[in-house]
Amino acid sequence: MPTVTRIAPGIWRYRFGTPEAHTPIRYRSGKVLSEALVRMPGIAKPPIASREVAFERTARGCSILLPMVEGEGVYGMGLNTRVFEKTGRRQILIPSDAPEEAAGPSHAPVPFYVSTAGYGVYVDTARFAAFHAGNVAPVEDRPGAAGAMAGSTEELYKARKPSVRRMMVDVPVAQGVDVYLFAGPTMLDAVRRYVLFSGGGAVPPMWGMGVVYRGKSDFTAAACLRLARSFREQAIPCDIFGLEPGWQTRAYSSSFVWDKARFPDPDDYIRQMRDLGYHLSVWEHAFTHPESPIHDALKPYSGSYRVWGGLVPDFATPEARRIYLKHHRETLFDKGVDAVKLDECDYQPFGPEPWSFPCAARFPSGMDGEQMHSLFGILYQQAMQEPLAEANRRTWGLVRNSGALAAALPYVIYSDSYDHRCYVRGLATQGFSGLLWVPEVRDSGSLEELYRRVQTVVLSPLAQIDPWYMKLPPWQQINADKSNLGEVMPEAPEATAIVRRLLELRMSLAPYLYAAFNEYRRTGTPPLRALVMEWPDDPALRGIDDEFLLGPDLLAAPMFAGQGSRQVVLPRGRWYDFWTHEPLEGGRTIEASKPMDQMPLYVRDNCIVPLAKPVQHIAADTCFELEARVYGPNPAHCALYEDDGISNDYLRGKQSIVTLTHGPKGGAEQRTGGYTGPNRYRVTSWTTIGGGAAK
Ligand code: GAL
Repeated sequence: MPTVTRIAPGIWRYRFGTPEAHTPIRYRSGKVLSEALVRMPGIAKPPIASREVAFERTARGCSILLPMVEGEGVYGMGLNTRVFEKTGRRQILIPSDAPEEAAGPSHAPVPFYVSTAGYGVYVDTARFAAFHAGNVAPVEDRPGAAGAMAGSTEELYKARKPSVRRMMVDVPVAQGVDVYLFAGPTMLDAVRRYVLFSGGGAVPPMWGMGVVYRGKSDFTAAACLRLARSFREQAIPCDIFGLEPGWQTRAYSSSFVWDKARFPDPDDYIRQMRDLGYHLSVWEHAFTHPESPIHDALKPYSGSYRVWGGLVPDFATPEARRIYLKHHRETLFDKGVDAVKLDECDYQPFGPEPWSFPCAARFPSGMDGEQMHSLFGILYQQAMQEPLAEANRRTWGLVRNSGALAAALPYVIYSDSYDHRCYVRGLATQGFSGLLWVPEVRDSGSLEELYRRVQTVVLSPLAQIDPWYMKLPPWQQINADKSNLGEVMPEAPEATAIVRRLLELRMSLAPYLYAAFNEYRRTGTPPLRALVMEWPDDPALRGIDDEFLLGPDLLAAPMFAGQGSRQVVLPRGRWYDFWTHEPLEGGRTIEASKPMDQMPLYVRDNCIVPLAKPVQHIAADTCFELEARVYGPNPAHCALYEDDGISNDYLRGKQSIVTLTHGPKGGAEQRTGGYTGPNRYRVTSWTTIGGGAAK
């Protein structure tokens, strides 16, 4: 029997055997948000009793067997762009740079799952554990009458499924493990508890709600500035401008030294970009080139194998962090760089020419290569947060590997993969595991594909255009196929206008999204959610992996190139078409079709959606002019979130909620909280929508 400890309201730990020293809990990014957990529904008993969980230890590791209930659906286990529901499958949690794998390898494997039965389970391990979600049968589970000969192959094969579903977690190496149980009562509540247990969701800086553009790898300072100015001249919204590998003297591995041939005066470049209203992000990976000024000092605090000739810093040691960050602080953050794209921190477990360090590598912290692979992205994100947090600045970074308990890290996962359908599935799955994902836009095979991709990006946590191998923006040249043709296509003016409108939609939604991120921190509610998370009892929504909820009240159903129209499953209740305001009765499937500057987007009944007049970029003193759109006949409200948008003072009480309410007497605004800076929002109009009969 395990040792049972109540960790926080609705969260229990079952300790089996002696857990390993290096697990994600030890390196958790935030502290358990107990006050928020206290506000959740009180639950007296763990969702699964300790006597129902079996533990077994063998020479190759240990395993846990948990019960499953009849008909439950299991989701999560990290970001997955290929498989949505995990019931009946095995997922092997290995970090990978090729995420479109049905078997589990992912940019962000997470040993946490959540069930439609309203509970979650987290297994605290940095091993490449395998989760068998109802596809193994211990010998006691006899198949009973099943297994008889049948006429059709389908009937015959039905008997191959276990008669009782159980979850078996196979953990290599470890001789003990902590299992955490998260109560509901609903599926969303279980996810919330997991997020609050991880430290609550990250609140990005307000400028992080805007658009990110990344320049071509070998762009010079002059080329970046030219493009950045052209965006302002053409009124293309953009908040963050990113540099790719070419800013450094060495990139594979990294020197972390400005290349003076391309960037002769980095300080001047940064100043000019900031004067244009941009925040700056730079690409890097952690593997440290022998020519880097920090190479020799880092060597004693690095792993026992090199990657691309570079050292692998052990970010679990304070020394590696200190050396690495001192240099980054002096050359980047103190100079005005606000964010970093942390590349190549995943792995390639199965390819014929795998890169990165082997699992047998040793690290000074005591971890082996397998453990370090599971924790590398997390430790790297945490380390890079430190200097900015010390300077009381928020960041909004990109990362290619994340994992367990990552919700509090202000980083969004991206990929080299580029299947639009898989990208959208990633958006639907991220919320199950407390992760954030960006389906970035690079090149497109057609204008239609470009528009449909941009539509998805503007509704994602971080709106990124990442043509890192293209000289021209993707709306000036399609079919780029990684070549550097540089010829502006004849359709460019029309394409620019359509993309501008889509990016402006993003800017209109900035206040709404910012409030959704505050809810992520405060209540653990992910800003993007699969439909099953809110309606787990509706079988029609169990497999919907191409729609998602965005913030409290919007439902998005992205379209893909080649689709004249698509089916949209609307959950029960009344909805409104965002564009036409048409009321629609839910609980059914509708056919939707939208022009190139729109996407199927629906609004819940009885709410207010604050829509901002789009700005080009979000400055420290931006005040958004809002149209408050009131949906439905009943008194409605919405909560906007206000703080200085750039510092961490919000964590010390300098934040306010602006509540908009609308009833029979019209609309009203009310501010409560400790933020004392200039107002960020001003309602300039109220629009009431709906009240008539739904179609
Ligand atoms: C890849 C990364 C891309 C881009 C590229 C530059 O590893 O995923 O987004 O940054 O490197 O070389």
